[in-house]
Amino acid sequence: MHPVRAGAPRAGIWRVRRHCRAATHPVAIFRGARFGWRDVSAALTPLASPTFLTDEPMLVLGLETSCDETGVALYDSQAGLLAHALHSQVELHHDYGGVVPELASRDHIRRLLPLLVRVLAQAGRTPCAIDAIAYTEGPGLAGALLVGAGIANALAYGLSVPAIAIHHLEGHLLSPLLAPAAPRFPFVALLVSGGHTQLMRVDGVGRYALLGETQDDAAGEAFDKTAKLLGLPYPGGPALAALAQRGNAARYPFPRPMLNSNDLDFSFSGLKTAVLLACRSASPLEEHRADIAASFQEAVVEVLCAKCLRALEATGLDALVVAGGVGANLTLRASLDTSAARNGFRVFYPPLEFCTDNGAMIALAGALHLTQDAGAGAGERRGYGFGVRPRWELGQP
Ligand code: KG4
Ligand code: ZN
Repeated sequence: MHPVRAGAPRAGIWRVRRHCRAATHPVAIFRGARFGWRDVSAALTPLASPTFLTDEPMLVLGLETSCDETGVALYDSQAGLLAHALHSQVELHHDYGGVVPELASRDHIRRLLPLLVRVLAQAGRTPCAIDAIAYTEGPGLAGALLVGAGIANALAYGLSVPAIAIHHLEGHLLSPLLAPAAPRFPFVALLVSGGHTQLMRVDGVGRYALLGETQDDAAGEAFDKTAKLLGLPYPGGPALAALAQRGNAARYPFPRPMLNSNDLDFSFSGLKTAVLLACRSASPLEEHRADIAASFQEAVVEVLCAKCLRALEATGLDALVVAGGVGANLTLRASLDTSAARNGFRVFYPPLEFCTDNGAMIALAGALHLTQDAGAGAGERRGYGFGVRPRWELGQP
C-alpha cells in the first residue's frame, strides 16, 4: 500500500496514468456490470467559477451515500461536470414514512457500481483516467456512509489515486459553484437541509465560520414533520411545497420563531407545534390542508430570509449562497430574490437538481480540495485506511 501524502498527490497520479492498463486493471471488471435503474441523468454543465491552483486538468470521481440517495459524478477541473447519475431511494422507503437505515445501506451497495459504470460511459472515460476519488465521510447514516467510503477507498487503492474524505455539508456549501453563474468568495451561505440549518461565512475552500444555526429542528426536518401531520407522503418537503401552491398563506398566522432575536440562530420546533394545534382544530382537515401548508411555508421562509439579511449586514458581505434540500423550495427562492433586489445583494443557488443530495457536489468539493490550499478541516487526503463520521460538525478536525 502506498498512502498518498497530503502535500504530494500529483506525483502519484501521473505515475499511475503512465502505467495504467485498463484491460487488465482490477476495475475493468465494472465494464461488464449490468445496470437497470430508472433515474440516471446526465448533465454537461459548463465550468463555473472555481479557480484551481494548477492548469492541468484533474478528473475527480465523487461518491455520495450519506442517506437515501446514491450519487456518482465525474468532475473535470477544466471542463466542469462531465457526467452524473443519481438513484433516489424514495420508493424503497415510501411505505415506512421515512428512511430505514439498513435498507438504505443495502440499496447503496446495489446501486453504486452500476451507477459508476454508467457515469464513466456517459463521460467517455475509463477508470484509469480518474485522478482522485472523493466520497462523503459524514455526517449521515453510518452504514450508508460505509458503503461509499469502502468503495471509494478500495477503488482509490486499486487505481493508486488519492481518496478524499468530504464533509457532506461542505459539498452542499460549494454546490452553487456548479451553476453557470457562480459566486466568488467571500460569501454568506445559508445551509438548509434535512439535518442542518446554518448560516456560515465562507472565505474560501475549507474556510468556514459558523454565524448561527438552529437550536432544535432543521428547516427540512420541520417541513418533513409538518408534512407528516398533514398526511403527506415521505419525503415531506417537496410534497408540502406542492400542496402550499394551492393554499392561502395568510390564513394561519403561525409564529415566526426567533425572528426578532438579536442573533443569527433559528428555532422551528415551536412552529411544528403550532401546526399540530391548527390541524386539530381544522375541521374537516382536508379543506384546510393547503392553507396550513402555505402558512407554515410562509413562516419558515420569512424567518430564513430575515436571518439571511441580518447575516449579510453583520458580515458586510453582499453575496448570499443558498444550499441544501430546502434550497429547492421555489417560494424561498422567490422571497430571497425579492429581498436581494430590494436590499442590494446577490443571491446564488445551485442548479435545482443539485440542491438535494448528489455526487456532483462531492466531486466538485474533492476537486477543489485536491487543487487548492484548502486549509484544515474537511476534505483530508490520506491513505486508504478509512472510517466514517456519522456525527461531524463542519470545521471540526
Ligand atoms: O440536502 P438534502 O437532500 O439532504 C440532507 O442532507 O438532509 O435535504 C433534504 C431535505 C428534506 O428535509 C426535504 O424535505 C427538504 O430537503 N426539501 C424541501 C424541498 N425539497 C427538498 N423542503 C422544502 N421544499 C422543497 N421543495
Ligand atoms: Zn444533504
